[in-house]
Amino acid sequence: MVVPSSSKAMAAWKKETLMMMMIMTLFILMLTKGVTEAKGVPKNRKHHSKSRALTIINESISGGEPYCLSWRMAVEANNMRGWRTIPTQCLRHVQGYMVGGQYYRDISLIIDQAYAYLDGIDPLADAMDAWIFDVDDTCLSNLFYYRVKRFGCDPYNPTEFKTWALRGESPAIQPVLRLFNKLIEVGYKVFLVTGRDEEALGDATLDNLVNQGFVGFERLIMRSAKYRGQSAITYKSEIRRQLVEQGYRIWGNIGDQWSDLQGNFTGDRTFKLPNPMYFVP
Ligand SMILES: *[C@@H]1O[C@H](CO)[C@@H](O)[C@H](O)[C@H]1NC(C)=O
Ligand SMILES: *[C@@H]1O[C@H](CO)[C@@H](O)[C@H](O)[C@H]1NC(C)=O
Ligand SMILES: [Mg+2]
Repeated sequence: MVVPSSSKAMAAWKKETLMMMMIMTLFILMLTKGVTEAKGVPKNRKHHSKSRALTIINESISGGEPYCLSWRMAVEANNMRGWRTIPTQCLRHVQGYMVGGQYYRDISLIIDQAYAYLDGIDPLADAMDAWIFDVDDTCLSNLFYYRVKRFGCDPYNPTEFKTWALRGESPAIQPVLRLFNKLIEVGYKVFLVTGRDEEALGDATLDNLVNQGFVGFERLIMRSAKYRGQSAITYKSEIRRQLVEQGYRIWGNIGDQWSDLQGNFTGDRTFKLPNPMYFVP
């Protein structure tokens, strides 16, 4: 810019510069406003109701069962504890999830993560590298039983579950069986740790596992009289403690309940499989 010499021209130049600065300030203000709005930052933080940060664009995309989706999400994230039955209003939602393909897809994706994890570790030659699998709804599916129990809307019935388990007809969860076989093939010791009562269900459980292809595991560890009445967290922690004491290195630990994966000696990495049908403390 050229600075004018006469005072009249100088005044005009000052006016012009002031105008330009005002326009530029306005422009900058508009720009910043645009950016903040695009980021979803509320214009007035004290009025959260006016926030555009979290907008429901189309409610029907959530399947028309927004509450049940939230409920299932909370269950899987372990924010919902000690629940005994699924909310009756969520029967159709859970049924749809369990038999409509999503449950199976979720499991497959989680098992893929286990393979990816497995790729990064090498078992040592001492054959003390171990993985732990839960049994019910991890290796073997009880979906046929829970289908009759309205997918968990009906409260847990230990007598009826025992009758079901004694039949030994729970099918294998295929992606889990494939991982199980892979682990044994590459030299891991696989321990199946279940809260099922050893005395009542020992033979039936072993038969069921074998007839579904779960062969070659190191040990099936069931709840003996000594551990009756203990929570799954306490009982399974104690079993894992014994394994670690025997020198095993627990790498992966897979279960459908948080109580399979919490407590002590949980393993280097845990994998939580979905289960919206029941809660085991
Ligand atoms: C919302 O999504 C449903 C299902 O995809 C669609 O049929 C409907 O037209 C959408 N409604 C609006 C307002 O976009
Ligand atoms: C974990 O170990 C600590 C220390 O030995 C013990 O106090 C605690 O009860 C154990 N927790 C479980 C769930 O076994
Ligand atoms: Mg289980």
